[in-house]
Amino acid sequence: MALQATNPTTTKSWKKLQSHFQGIKSKDLRELFASDNSRANDLTIKWDDFYVDFSKNRISTETINLLTELADEVDLRDAISKYFEGDVINATESRAVLHTALRASKSAQVFVDGENIIPEVYEVRQKIKNFTKAIVTGDHKGFTGKTITDVVNIGIGGSDLGPAMVVDSLQYYKNHLSTHFVSNVDGDHYQEIIKNLNPETTLFVIVSKTFSTQETLSNANSIRAWFLESQPKEAVSKHFVAVSTNIDSVKAFGIDEGNIFPMKDWVGGRFSLWSAVGLSISLALGYENFESLLTGARKMDEHFRDTDLDQNIPVISALLTIWYNNFFNAESEAIIPYTQYLNQFATYLQQGIMESNGKYVDRTGKEVDYQTGTIIWGEPGTNSQHAFFQLIHQGTKLIPADFIGFVESLHGNKDHHDKLMSNYFAQTEALMNGKTNAEVSTELKEQNLSEKEIEKLLPYKVFKGNKPTTSILIQKLTPESLGKLIAMYEHKIFVQGIIWNIYSYDQFGVELGKQLAKTILKELEVGKNSTGHDSSTQNLIDFYKNNC
Ligand code: F6P
Repeated sequence: MALQATNPTTTKSWKKLQSHFQGIKSKDLRELFASDNSRANDLTIKWDDFYVDFSKNRISTETINLLTELADEVDLRDAISKYFEGDVINATESRAVLHTALRASKSAQVFVDGENIIPEVYEVRQKIKNFTKAIVTGDHKGFTGKTITDVVNIGIGGSDLGPAMVVDSLQYYKNHLSTHFVSNVDGDHYQEIIKNLNPETTLFVIVSKTFSTQETLSNANSIRAWFLESQPKEAVSKHFVAVSTNIDSVKAFGIDEGNIFPMKDWVGGRFSLWSAVGLSISLALGYENFESLLTGARKMDEHFRDTDLDQNIPVISALLTIWYNNFFNAESEAIIPYTQYLNQFATYLQQGIMESNGKYVDRTGKEVDYQTGTIIWGEPGTNSQHAFFQLIHQGTKLIPADFIGFVESLHGNKDHHDKLMSNYFAQTEALMNGKTNAEVSTELKEQNLSEKEIEKLLPYKVFKGNKPTTSILIQKLTPESLGKLIAMYEHKIFVQGIIWNIYSYDQFGVELGKQLAKTILKELEVGKNSTGHDSSTQNLIDFYKNNC
């Protein structure tokens, strides 16, 4: 059954939110805290090893009530059931959206075209498990009998970002295998990676849902050609495996059927790390850690599916995006993890969030008359504090930010971890409270500055504060907690799409540039003419051709 299609701005709750916004928009977070002793507790959700404090947002409990009323009015509950049950909610591509089925328990039943897909999910998992074991233990040898030491994942977008982010984030749990990721069609990318590799001890995992992506096929072809410079053709089967839905094209590429890890079209590329796309994760971290990642995601799925909306972490988190995006007109959101391990987390979420919800056509085929997808960006703290925090503190834009922190550090260096976490706490406090005229003035007096000097400096030193943040504090970075965190954002994306009345699971917007590039590529060949472009593009192409 189709998803309900309601323009959110026509709902009763939207009107109520508009008038509520008029009352709260100029309220200061300091005032909100001063007038309500239980605010911090009331606006915090504790679940499992997650402590999520929403209280430093420009909301009241009334805001949450109205936002959840909005969610009810667009029938979010019904949409959630359809999402988990495999309804064709990716209607523009006529597909179900079932990354949740990839981490469901073995006894679950999820039907696609009348068939329970869970047994097949577990069959693929078993294949990943067996292959991982063979590679990690050294049972699977390369063609010349040597043990595999390096794994190269060749893919792009969802076939790269998820596995690359997880392997990097969980590098503490890594085994002896060296893992590399080749994604960019820029030949320098793969050349840099292969230059230190021994083909006899390297396994290449080609990951492409469609097996038609230019970048991945070019990289795979070039790498195979490099491999064949030193190895015989028969060696390919020991060193190349593939993950795809397009079995025929994989076979045509020359990969043995036994070396294919299948995936299904009901898994979206940017949500696919839980499928066979996660093979590199399993190889790098061991299958048990891959399974823990899936377990964490499943726990978050259950929380999301079964918890009341006002106590539901992904739901509240998504509703706050609606609040800032559509009422405060905030254009972007920052994701700031206070762990170097999550260095690639914002990059990963950029695809997840922006490819999903960067849409201007609603579920009735009409252009929306309100804002949708937010711009996502971020870097780990404390590095980001020394890069772009100035703008968040004293710039002219409102940037709601998620601060992700961990109670325990992995290497247990308490001195450093306390310093890191003191910054984590201090930044959200500073963003909220800012520094008043009076506080700055007292501080400058204490530094023995003259009245005149104080008057001159004061406006620059004042921090208005009232900058919203959400603190996500997790016990420890483990495969399981990372699984929960990723799934939290996946569900947040889903809820946003439901409220904005858009289809979150297609990505037609990336097609046009790809098509044009194909045409231009032919024109770049020596001796070929290039015509018919606008004068700017034509000049650029001519300049390139004349100088390369
Ligand atoms: O960028 C567009 C896109 O289709 C993504 O959605 C996808 O993750 C990526 O390209 C790679 O696609 P494939 O896995 O089919 O190579």
